[in-house]
Amino acid sequence: MPESTPAARVRLITCPPDFAPPKSASEYSDWGDIDPRSANSEMERWLIVFDDAGDDVVVGDMTAMPIWFGPTTGSMAISIGIDVVPQHRGQGIGTQAQRLLAGLLHDRGITRVQASTDVTNIPEQRALAKAGFTFEGVMRGAQVRASGRHDLQVWSHLQGEGWSEGFYPVH
Ligand SMILES: CC(C)(COP(=O)(O)OP(=O)(O)OC[C@H]1O[C@@H](n2cnc3c(N)ncnc32)[C@H](O)[C@@H]1OP(=O)(O)O)[C@@H](O)C(=O)NCCC(=O)NCCS
Repeated sequence: MPESTPAARVRLITCPPDFAPPKSASEYSDWGDIDPRSANSEMERWLIVFDDAGDDVVVGDMTAMPIWFGPTTGSMAISIGIDVVPQHRGQGIGTQAQRLLAGLLHDRGITRVQASTDVTNIPEQRALAKAGFTFEGVMRGAQVRASGRHDLQVWSHLQGEGWSEGFYPVH
């Protein structure tokens, strides 16, 4: 893996409890009124750290929360989310960060890692595809944001697919 690629320059660190992740500007994270019932105490957050010519810069954040498809341990999937600050988008960072988080979760024993994204969010669809995720279908009318109700695509990465745990290849 060449040292100069984004893969070697992207890492995830656990977000300290009081740390406010960098503000993102995106129609896909402009929620409008947030329902307090959506708060999930099991949600985990990481910061995306980019080695910018030797300086560690926080360029975004990622979240993960459990989704249960049945009452058995193996039925727990993890749904991930991501935000990269505008000035660092389009450099491969989102692709690498999602690969890293899927790998980290697979290493914990999670078989299914999934991500959902707006049907119009081409950059995230590209990043998920490059990260090795598989498009599964569309969830109709699944999400309301400030701009109204939207259809979401669902993507997943299963343990053992495409690349092995602990090895995250460059696209
Ligand atoms: C979606 C997001 C996480 C992707 O991260 P990123 O670091 O920009 O992703 P990458 O650089 O790895 O890949 C982005 C891909 O989208 C492409 N892309 C970017 N803008 C695009 C556009 N307007 N139209 C089409 N493709 C676009 C890039 O060219 C690249 O694909 P390529 O390598 O095939 O050329 C980031 O753009 C972001 O934070 N967006 C705002 C928040 C958001 O949408 N989060 C996800 C919500 S589910």
